[in-house]
Amino acid sequence: MITEDSVREVIDSARIEDVVGDFVNLRRRGNNYTGLCPFHNEKTPSFNVNPARNIYKCFGCGVGGDPVKFLMELEQLSFPDAIKWIAGKYNIQLEEKEVSQEVRQELQERESLLITNDFARSYFADQLLHTEEGKSIGLSYFKQRGFRKDTIETFGLGYASTQRDGLYKAATAAGHKEEQLEKLGLVRNRRDFFFDRVIFTIHNVAGKPIAFAGRILKQNVKAPKYVNSPETEIYHKSDVLYGMYQARQTVRKLDLVYMVEGYTDVISLYQNGIKNVVATSGTSLTSGQARLVKRFTENVTLLYDGDKAGIKAALRGVDVLLTNDLNVRVVVLPGGHDPDSYLQEVGTTSFETYLQGTARDFLFFKADLLLEEAGDDVSKRTEAIRDVSSTLALVNDPLKRAGYLQQFSARLGLDETLLVNLVNKAIGDRRKAQRKEQEREARRERRTGGGNTSDGAHDDDWAGLREPGWAGDSDTAPEAPPAARQDSGAPATEAPSLSAGHSFQERYLVELLVRHGHQWYDEEAGVTIAAYLTSNVADLLQSFDAPAYRDMVVAVTERVRSGQTPAPSWYASQPDLALRKLAVDAAVSPYTYSPNWKEMYGLHLTQKLPENNHRLAAETFLYIFRMEKIERKARENATRIAELEREGKLDQLRTHLKVQMKLQQLRADLARELGTVVLHN
Ligand code: UTP
Ligand code: MN
Repeated sequence: MITEDSVREVIDSARIEDVVGDFVNLRRRGNNYTGLCPFHNEKTPSFNVNPARNIYKCFGCGVGGDPVKFLMELEQLSFPDAIKWIAGKYNIQLEEKEVSQEVRQELQERESLLITNDFARSYFADQLLHTEEGKSIGLSYFKQRGFRKDTIETFGLGYASTQRDGLYKAATAAGHKEEQLEKLGLVRNRRDFFFDRVIFTIHNVAGKPIAFAGRILKQNVKAPKYVNSPETEIYHKSDVLYGMYQARQTVRKLDLVYMVEGYTDVISLYQNGIKNVVATSGTSLTSGQARLVKRFTENVTLLYDGDKAGIKAALRGVDVLLTNDLNVRVVVLPGGHDPDSYLQEVGTTSFETYLQGTARDFLFFKADLLLEEAGDDVSKRTEAIRDVSSTLALVNDPLKRAGYLQQFSARLGLDETLLVNLVNKAIGDRRKAQRKEQEREARRERRTGGGNTSDGAHDDDWAGLREPGWAGDSDTAPEAPPAARQDSGAPATEAPSLSAGHSFQERYLVELLVRHGHQWYDEEAGVTIAAYLTSNVADLLQSFDAPAYRDMVVAVTERVRSGQTPAPSWYASQPDLALRKLAVDAAVSPYTYSPNWKEMYGLHLTQKLPENNHRLAAETFLYIFRMEKIERKARENATRIAELEREGKLDQLRTHLKVQMKLQQLRADLARELGTVVLHN
């Protein structure tokens, strides 16, 4: 392990403009530099490098940080690897600390496996390029497929000859242990595993060769077309996507990855300029692969060969992408073609036009496919709709889900409520299964004594919002909610204007409190709707737009804190006339929805009116409310960042950048959390 002193030395030496400058063309602007952001696609530079603070920041996509973070994000390096990269750049000698025997052995083991694999890669390459057999069989095959020299190098293509122990002999002669070669699956009983095949190197995202695939060239042989390295300490098949190393920067830039089946499809597309492509290697997708994709983009387009059997089989593998919150689109290639052959036939431009023109959202694709198959058969149609609904239930993001529901009901000519119910049922079933699984896990953990206290993470995050240093929050002490202002200068006898900022939401909150505050949110835990809502907005009271509604919420909060439930009679007996009026008004008027709620948040997810579904109404409301507050903060903060940047106030800039990242995190957390809001029927 690298010593802390060494790490510090490296961090102190790293100049942000040097490090970024190795990847991005920078131009001086005043004391800073600008360039095109390597993390997103842009035509005008919004990527900023600030040497004085030693940080980078993109005002387009919001990324930012120090030199180490830049390397970790752009090159997908681990922290130690980023440190090593910088040390190499500045010729810093790294001091290594003794680590435990066990850890060191494991690291050495992995390292030496990678080294041996790299030897194999160069051996196969050498065979391909510099032997008669390799050139006449392997290289001519690749050439006939149209692969260029640079492509052959980029993808680590090679050749394994008919000699059964060529690699074994060369590797052991070069000092690689037989045991290692066996562990890697390269050798067994002194005989090579790969022979008489062309070789595809499989890299990890850091570009290290972790496995190989060999394709047979002879026809009419019973042997399988491809053979692959086995699972090893350095190769976990289910966490790998072929081509990710070569594709990663383009994927990130274009914010899209194409998924194909074959190794050769990846290489062919890449060589023809479609570099954001990876292969699943013919097996169904795993969660590990979905998570790998997610490090680079949320948008996946699957390219299917045009035969029905293939498509139907592929449908099954997609669930795991949806569950991991990826946006999935589908392109079906014209009959009989795979991506490589179709590209060869029509050329890159037409190919890309075809992709863009025919890519369809996976869920619609699936629905159409199943319904088409079902034809007029009623029971088959029902089955198809049920199937699609359960797939739709995998989509965690409620806004996305709501959008689908709306469109599906329109396209299928179905009552939306029916669909919503089907989906909700599927979500409920899934949650139940998950909860059972969690309980099992918890029991296991209790037995083994491992604790997990991350439950309060959400509240802690909000506490973070109260950190000093963000725009316009300097007035009152945040801990204590202001006392109910019976003597308030602004009388609230008239209902506040609903046009101000978030007043709609605030009024809706009051409505929920008045009508349902005394009902249970969670009976077992003894939590009322009033307790649930007030405790979850306590930290937001400062940023209410309508003082009258805030006062009402404060009054309810105090009532709840004193251990009593605010029943309708309590509202009616409010000494303050303004509050009393407000409460009565909220109780009798129809529910107030903000005009844009429905579009923005798919309020029709609340398929029943709030009166029948107060728990869901309360949860949905909190989500929207908190989300809008966060977004407003983020907007304000972004404006402030731009100002500070212009004024060159770098001390404050840094704080605001941190706040911005925190807000983005909160937003993501919240979105994820709503995905888990279950309907309580
Ligand atoms: P393909 O048969 O489409 O192969 O299988 P390909 O890569 O396009 O090869 P060419 O174009 O015929 O040269 C698609 C993928 O399925 C896996 C491989 O990952 C292959 O790339 N596969 C296929 C195997 O692992 N083993 C096999 O025997 C066949
Ligand atoms: Mn092919």
